[in-house]
Amino acid sequence: MENIKVLITEEEIKRRVCELGAEITKDYAGKSILLIGVLKGAAVFMSDLMRCIDLPVEIDFMVVSSYGSGTKTSGNIKILKDTDVSVEGRDVIIAEDILDTGITLNNLKDLLLKRGAKSLKICTIFNKPARRKSPIEAEYVGFDVPDEFVIGYGLDYDQKYRNLPYLGVLDSSVYGDQ
Ligand code: IMP
Ligand code: MG
Repeated sequence: MENIKVLITEEEIKRRVCELGAEITKDYAGKSILLIGVLKGAAVFMSDLMRCIDLPVEIDFMVVSSYGSGTKTSGNIKILKDTDVSVEGRDVIIAEDILDTGITLNNLKDLLLKRGAKSLKICTIFNKPARRKSPIEAEYVGFDVPDEFVIGYGLDYDQKYRNLPYLGVLDSSVYGDQ
């Protein structure tokens, strides 16, 4: 596509997602997992990841928001859709598209632990360590990415580009100097 530079190819992502699934399969041997996806961004990653986990997996979704339509964080989260099942006593893995400032996941992690999750780990396909503002790290990370606004593989700019099968960077002329 025009104005998009490919950072991580479809093939590289596929390979890495299945490595993460294999790691989770090994770490949780004998257990069943509640995989919670943070919509909308994690939808693409989560659907690929769950098919690479060879264990009993139950899935659920949450919608939380910390961003407006621009590219900067507003600093707190709102729960717009909660899980359908209880996390109490469950081994929970949160599937995320990108760990950026960490504000969203830090709040979410606290909440699910307060609700009695037996264990809670974070699995993010992309990680932007340079932008971290909350003291949080993911136990499973697909790729570290540079401090640029990335799109594709679930990630959007103004709700567009989520369907790209690769991770890319938009030419800054598309979104100006936000
Ligand atoms: P955080 O709370 O700053 O860690 O990020 C929360 C959410 O912001 C992520 O789950 C993404 O949905 C979105 N986000 C952060 N960085 C990017 C990016 O580079 N491109 C697209 N969305 C992003
Ligand atoms: Mg997200």
